[in-house]
Amino acid sequence: MTTTRWAVLGTGQIARTFLASLAGADDARVVAVGSSDGTRARRFAAEHGVAGAGTYAEVLADARVDAVYIGTVHTTHAELTVQALRAGKPVLCEKPLGLDPAQTAAVAAAAEAAALPVVEAYKYRFSPFTDTLRLAVVGGRIGRVRSVRASFGFAAPTRSGRLFDPAFAGGAVYDVGGYPVSLAVAVARWAGVSPESLTVTDAEGALERRTGVETDTRALVTGPGFGARVEAAITRSLSRAVHVEGDRGSIHAEQGWGSGRASAHSFEIRTGTSTEQVEVPVVDPFLVEARALAAAAAAGHLEDARMPWGDSTATARLLARWRAELGATADHRRD
Ligand SMILES: NC(=O)c1ccc[n+]([C@@H]2O[C@H](COP(=O)([O-])OP(=O)(O)OC[C@H]3O[C@@H](n4cnc5c(N)ncnc54)[C@H](OP(=O)(O)O)[C@@H]3O)[C@@H](O)[C@H]2O)c1
Repeated sequence: MTTTRWAVLGTGQIARTFLASLAGADDARVVAVGSSDGTRARRFAAEHGVAGAGTYAEVLADARVDAVYIGTVHTTHAELTVQALRAGKPVLCEKPLGLDPAQTAAVAAAAEAAALPVVEAYKYRFSPFTDTLRLAVVGGRIGRVRSVRASFGFAAPTRSGRLFDPAFAGGAVYDVGGYPVSLAVAVARWAGVSPESLTVTDAEGALERRTGVETDTRALVTGPGFGARVEAAITRSLSRAVHVEGDRGSIHAEQGWGSGRASAHSFEIRTGTSTEQVEVPVVDPFLVEARALAAAAAAGHLEDARMPWGDSTATARLLARWRAELGATADHRRD
């Protein structure tokens, strides 16, 4: 068995989670930690028993690194992904891969130039739950799909840090709005509606007075014969349910995104008067997405069908549009 030697960029909460998820794997090992501060990288690496540490550039130049996981603030994702690709490393990048379609296009161009894969780490995509949902939709279990309802929201413990800072592309849309929007993109695609045809309308919600980031917001994602009601918040817990409506029935999951390091476990298919409960295996999606990137690299593929670039680009376009409709502050564009 080949072991993929990973570098983790970033020393925050999600970097810790990724390390924990790979800790028990025999086909993946974290060999280096990269940080915007080399001293912090060394401290973090020592704390987690990782041998290598340094600045982002030092870690990307390390020939012992086979693949890179990017778990830094939103504003750095596209740029670090391009740097990693230029250094010859395949990349698994936390969401959002890009803040707009220009950034995702730059990433795609770099991946093509390097002939290396990039995967945006929307972890719910890498679960039996989403794969089984896809098969139900594609298999016509609920007839022709017409609409989706999905939301993701949590009450942040403090109104500070990257989530409330426009300079780091904080706000509800980039942090959690990408879950319902990327799901709408996937369901539309499974139903034969091109993600490129989708647009955002009817955005409404609250902007924080102090920073101008959106804190609690909803919108419609619409395309030909298709509509999705999406909602996101960072100041309020929202339902994590996913609902897909077709002309012959519906699919409902009370919990569509999974939690922590566990993927979602069930959904219902409702047709006429009958309800079928569908149970699916639970996995650690961080490990599955890490393996997906390694497998794509080994096979010479540039992307993974579970989160293809077209979905990343459509999602980035729709998220930017959602924020623009709200008039949310976008001063991350100053840099
Ligand atoms: N998939 C999931 O379930 C999930 C869950 C939570 C978060 N996320 C995503 O993971 C990413 C990181 O989130 P997090 O919760 O881990 O955030 P966090 O705890 O605040 O950590 C962010 C990291 O970004 C790096 N960073 C780079 N430049 C920075 C700057 N100028 N100021 C502050 N930090 C900077 C820092 O590491 P260094 O400076 O040491 O490099 C920091 O540790 C985000 O993209 C978020 O959307 C995903």
